[in-house]
Formats: sequence, C-alpha cells, structure tokens
Amino acid sequence: MTQIAPSMLSANFGSLDADVEMVNNSDAAMIHLDVMDGQFVPNISFGFPVIEAIAKKARKPLDAHLMILEPDKWVDTLARLGVETMNVHWEACTHLHRTVQAIRAAGMKPAVTLNPATPVEFLRDIITDVDMVLLMSVNPGFGGQKFIPQILDKTRRLRQLISESGSRALIQIDGGVNLETGRQLVDAGADILVAGSYVFNSPDPAGTIASLARL
Ligand code: DX5
Ligand code: ZN
Repeated sequence: MTQIAPSMLSANFGSLDADVEMVNNSDAAMIHLDVMDGQFVPNISFGFPVIEAIAKKARKPLDAHLMILEPDKWVDTLARLGVETMNVHWEACTHLHRTVQAIRAAGMKPAVTLNPATPVEFLRDIITDVDMVLLMSVNPGFGGQKFIPQILDKTRRLRQLISESGSRALIQIDGGVNLETGRQLVDAGADILVAGSYVFNSPDPAGTIASLARL
C-alpha cells in the first residue's frame, strides 16, 4: 500500500472537525499540515492554533510541512503540539544540519523538502540524518496546481541517492497528485503521496484516499 497524506489545506475550515474525522476513519497514513508565512511563499495558510485544534481530534500522525522562513524558531512549539514529523525547506535553512539535529532532539522525525528547481544532489551530506524527503511537484504556496512532470526523473534520482547512501529516508511527493500522476510517482519510487484538492474536492474523499492507497 502507498502511504497517503491528505493535505488539510484543501479541507473545509468551517467544519474542520468533520474533515479530520473523515481522515481518521480513512486509509490515510498521516495528516499533512501546510504552514505558510507569506514570506517564504506568496500565501498565508494557518498556524499553531489551527494545528492545536487538529491535533486534539487527530488519530493519525501529524506531518507538518513548514513553508516558512527560520523554521528553527518553532521546533519546541511543534513538539509540544504533538507533531510527529517536522518538515523544513532546504531553501529556508541556512544551517540545515543544526535544524535537523534540533528536530530530532525535540523528539520529532526530521524531514527536508526541496522546491522543484533544487537538485536532489544537495541532500547528499544530510540524507542519512533525515527520516523523509519531500519533493515538491508544484511551486509551493497553493493547492490545486498542475503537476510538474520533471519530478518523475527527480524521484528516480532521489531513490538512487537513498539506496547508495544506505539511508532509510522515505520519499514523499506533494503537489498535483491524482490517480494518474500518483501511479507514475509510485513507479518512480515514491513512498508517500500528499493529496489536497484531489481528495477534498472529490464526491467521496475517503474513497479517493482508499484508491490512492492502492496504487
Ligand atoms: C502546496 C502544499 C500542498 C498542497 C497540495 O504548497 O504544500 O500540500 O496542499 O495541494 P494539491 O494536492 O491540490 O496539489
Ligand atoms: Zn504540503
């Protein structure tokens, strides 16, 4: 089974509890939380009070994708809120090694995200320290964008880098995932697929999660 991480960015914020409950009762492996600061990306989404509300209801692990500058400032806050995976952007971290160690020391799983134009080779010296690598398959900031097909080759190159290094990092892909792109991504070596609009805009979100999980 492919691990699926529904992105709450596309949930209905007027009835968040219901959408969290849908994910709890689905085949989802984790809950993907997209935090945006209006600086690192051209959009603002939600912050700690919303994560806290979701954490109270969630029965799946929380996967926080931080599209923010200086994510190091919030390691302790996210650990306190019960986040399992703290995912920081390579492009937002001047001292990535220090940030990754701080996340681990706080009891969370460290993960690193690459924007579409950042090569996987830049991870060579950190790959054995992280539990997950997220490849963005759209430019971060918005749900509902079109999948960038070059990410398929990038996924294969990341898979190779991981096996050469002996790292146990999982490969997660985020942006424009649907049954068609998801199939291609799994064939290319992806372990975890993030899906926002494809899940929440479908008439049967839990059924859509189940069909992605069967890829
Ligand atoms: C984009 C976010 C994604 C987004 C994906 O910046 O990181 O997680 O919610 O949305 P879809 O699946 O609609 O492309
Ligand atoms: Zn995301």
